[in-house]
Amino acid sequence: MKILLENGRLTDPSQTMDETGDILIENGQISRIGPRLRAALSASEIQDTAVFDLTGMVAAPGLIDMHTHLREPGFEYKETIASGSAAAAAGGFTSIACMANTDPCNDNRSVTEYIIKQARQCGLVRVYPVGAISSGLKGTALAEYGDMKEGGIVALSDDGKPVMNSHLMKAALEYAASLKLPVIAHCEDINLSGSGVMNESFFSTELGLPGIPSIAEESMIARDILLAGYTRTAVHIAHVSTKGGAELIRTAKKKGIHVTAETAPHYFTLCDESLRTFDTCLKVNPPLRSREDVEAIKDALKDGTIDAIASDHAPHAITEKDVEFEYALSGMIGLETSLALSLRLVAEKVLTLPQLIEKMSVNPARILRLPLGSLALGAPADITVFDANHSWTVDREQFFSKSKNTPCNGWQMTGKAMMTLVDGEVKYNALPDAK
Ligand code: DOR
Ligand code: ZN
Repeated sequence: MKILLENGRLTDPSQTMDETGDILIENGQISRIGPRLRAALSASEIQDTAVFDLTGMVAAPGLIDMHTHLREPGFEYKETIASGSAAAAAGGFTSIACMANTDPCNDNRSVTEYIIKQARQCGLVRVYPVGAISSGLKGTALAEYGDMKEGGIVALSDDGKPVMNSHLMKAALEYAASLKLPVIAHCEDINLSGSGVMNESFFSTELGLPGIPSIAEESMIARDILLAGYTRTAVHIAHVSTKGGAELIRTAKKKGIHVTAETAPHYFTLCDESLRTFDTCLKVNPPLRSREDVEAIKDALKDGTIDAIASDHAPHAITEKDVEFEYALSGMIGLETSLALSLRLVAEKVLTLPQLIEKMSVNPARILRLPLGSLALGAPADITVFDANHSWTVDREQFFSKSKNTPCNGWQMTGKAMMTLVDGEVKYNALPDAK
């Protein structure tokens, strides 16, 4: 069975394509792309083809979320590989990279292989495990990188925790580089963040909540940039949230240091002032920063300082959020809201649509060294179809994610994934039936 996607806006920054046309999918691959492909098919071929009309919609290389927390093994009450994969497909993601802070954590090959096996069994999106930098995420000894790489990890990160020991981080960068494994740095000086629960600012004083200063993040971004420069290795900075952090990355890139960076939709959508509601879904790490930081993150996306947008989807149960602010766990879900929140950047003219797709597909593929993020002929048919103008209201009860910790419940959104194809198979479909 072939699939023909007709009359879509085909936006593929990997080949500077942004034009109306059709995509033909055969044997899981993109076999033809261009205008009026139907005319080249015989009557019997048409019979054997599922045709979808994408008039008014965008077809892009499948979105890749390079920073997701699936909670399996260990915290299946928050999310499983299956529920997280379903949420990803519904959010328009064809691939996700999942962080190592599970229980047991992914610091050895057997956990890596378990994740891959579970993901294959549920058969929705591609799931790429990220291995731990340090054994047990303890920050004292390196994990078994070579073995985990053979098992299928695509990167290394202790995300959720920083690697405080600079000597260990230096060794990790060197060892990872020799194995061509990207290192994703969670930048936080825990002595500076201490017992803080929100950004240190006027609002933390007003609300009487202990603050996390922006330098807790920036001093570690600076350290990791210096280590990468010194060792001539590459480092990827996770969830950049501050103006100073973006500035450090901008300067490092100008100097030729191999640094890449991501931010999450909440860091360009929400600021610390919103915590006046005491909604614990707004508690994330790093914390929501000032209005000025939010604007600086947008500037850094616009000028290319920040390469990628990643959800940092961090599911937590109601019992872990429905407590006093100090006691709530950090994190918000994002797989099913990322695309709509990111499309606001296009509406605000911070990014063009092709630039947005670069940050949500092409660049994550490049940073993680995945052979994805393109609609080129012969490429695996990982395709996200979305309607950039579709209006909808967030109802977290409708989400596929097992956890409901989003601050966006009831929000009006514009833009929604309509079809997600992985390897030429339809994994999520909100389009009218095929003709
Ligand atoms: O808010 C966060 N939640 N930040 C992290 O770094 C970890 C994550 C989690 O695992 O819940
Ligand atoms: Zn994270």
